[in-house]
Amino acid sequence: MIKIAPSILAADFANLGRDIRRVESADYLHVDVMDGLFVPNISFGIPVVESIRPVTDLPLDVHLMIDRPVRYVERFCRAGADIVTVHVEADTRENTLLALELIHGQGKRAGVVLKPKTPAEAVLPFLDQCQMVLVMTVEPGFGGQKFMEDMMPKLRQLREWIDRRGLECELEVDGGIDPATCGTAIASGATVLVAGSAVYKAADIPARIRELRG
Ligand code: DX5
Ligand code: ZN
Repeated sequence: MIKIAPSILAADFANLGRDIRRVESADYLHVDVMDGLFVPNISFGIPVVESIRPVTDLPLDVHLMIDRPVRYVERFCRAGADIVTVHVEADTRENTLLALELIHGQGKRAGVVLKPKTPAEAVLPFLDQCQMVLVMTVEPGFGGQKFMEDMMPKLRQLREWIDRRGLECELEVDGGIDPATCGTAIASGATVLVAGSAVYKAADIPARIRELRG
């Protein structure tokens, strides 16, 4: 079954606990961490992950849009992350491999993320170590952008590699997912859909989550 991961970037931060409870029929809670260096925006960090941990039973899917994430991955795990993904563009291959190892050392699931301009091949040094691969379908940094349909060949390529190697690896898409685009992402091989605006702007959130499952 297709999993839905609502992004709290689209929540009301003054009412974050309430907005997290509103998406409890989803599968993961997507947590977008931005440092103002790797992306041109700043969101929130470790103390916020710590605060939301006791508020929900949903696994926390922490998407680190930060420079050299190897420095912080263990702290995000200790703060309560269940899945931690790091961008392949954010550090050297050695440090990215080390980041995945440190996440696994904390008993958590690890993954890598590709920006739109990064080719599918960039996952190959890491794929066997990943429980999640995340394909950005917008430039990371902001919610509410338009879905990039031209990322679908990349998604299909990744689906083929994951299946051919028989990996237990989820394939996630992030950016511009709504009722009009979710079907395309699912048909191209995605198994986890991140959705910020499409979930939080909906009048009936549980119905919207069901709709996005395709
Ligand atoms: C963008 C974030 C996304 C964002 C998605 O940098 O990684 O998770 O919250 O927002 P929507 O669904 O509104 O495109
Ligand atoms: Zn994200």
